[in-house]
Amino acid sequence: MKCKKCGGKASVNMRQHKLALCKEHYLEWLPEQTERFIKKYEMFTRHENILVAVSGGKDSLGLWDILVRLGYQADGLYLGLGIDGRRSPLGEGINYSHESQRLAEKFANHHGLKLHVVDIEKEYGQPIPVLSEISHRGHGKPCAVCGLTKRHEMNRIARDLGYDVLATGHNLDDEAAVLFGNTLSWSADFLLRQSPVLPSASGLARKVKPLCRFYEREMTAYCLARGIEYIYEECPFAEGAQSIYYKELLNKLETDRPGAKLTFYLRFLEARKSGELFVESHVTHGHLHPCTKCGQPTSAPDLCSFCRTIEKVNSVPAV
Ligand code: AMP
Ligand code: FES
Ligand code: ZN
Ligand code: ZN
Repeated sequence: MKCKKCGGKASVNMRQHKLALCKEHYLEWLPEQTERFIKKYEMFTRHENILVAVSGGKDSLGLWDILVRLGYQADGLYLGLGIDGRRSPLGEGINYSHESQRLAEKFANHHGLKLHVVDIEKEYGQPIPVLSEISHRGHGKPCAVCGLTKRHEMNRIARDLGYDVLATGHNLDDEAAVLFGNTLSWSADFLLRQSPVLPSASGLARKVKPLCRFYEREMTAYCLARGIEYIYEECPFAEGAQSIYYKELLNKLETDRPGAKLTFYLRFLEARKSGELFVESHVTHGHLHPCTKCGQPTSAPDLCSFCRTIEKVNSVPAV
């Protein structure tokens, strides 16, 4: 297989785009495409300050690397979830959070970039697995409380530190799996909110997903070619998650029909934009107002779900 640009030996073959490239041209192509998507979806400009949520995984570290290479002003935010040792379902010795923090810090130091680190246990008294256990949310798995906390904290830091926009590393595989799940249940509210850009609203930072059109394996190839060290392991609690099952199903489809995943996602974005399938006014939006404690918007009468969870945890006597 030859590189389409220089005729040299191709190292990345993207059947879905009918495109093969050598390492050098791949490292040019991916940021060029990212720039195209940033402009197409009007995500941000070079005058704005970006906060990249970095988990230590390939997508978010790859995203940070690309944005900096493209000349954007991008700082990082790492959230220490405390999924380590005996708090990991895999038991002692598996230090998922420590290892991902180490890699995020290593990347930041190596490139001279600013990384904000927020440790959930220091902020709220307990790590995610304990917050989840005490609050009895999420049917024995911490993922629900984890997702709630991540959204809350990313927004809080972006707002308090005055960033214009919050960028996450969600890739096409993530977005297609979410879309698939929401389509199976025809969740109109969620479908309407799934977008490469969510504009800022009162108390909420603008959120963008610049990698939403890249396959997961394209990000793996990018990080390998750039020599970015990232955490290979998934969160140990992710095992058996529905999103992983949907990803596997979509991968089977993709093997038989290269490009199917991308088409599924892009046709959805087109239909959504044109209003062919979803009419925004048909979806009822609950009235939102600021949480009385943290100020983030909520449809609940006083406290938002995150603050309610923390209150509940604090009201349980320590044993
Ligand atoms: P996930 O929900 O784990 O699939 O992650 C989706 C995106 O959320 C990642 O690409 C990151 O941008 C962000 N993210 C996940 N975990 C963390 C973390 N611990 N700290 C900061 N950002 C994170
Ligand atoms: Fe949050 Fe797994 S439970 S990353
Ligand atoms: Zn080439
Ligand atoms: Zn709140």
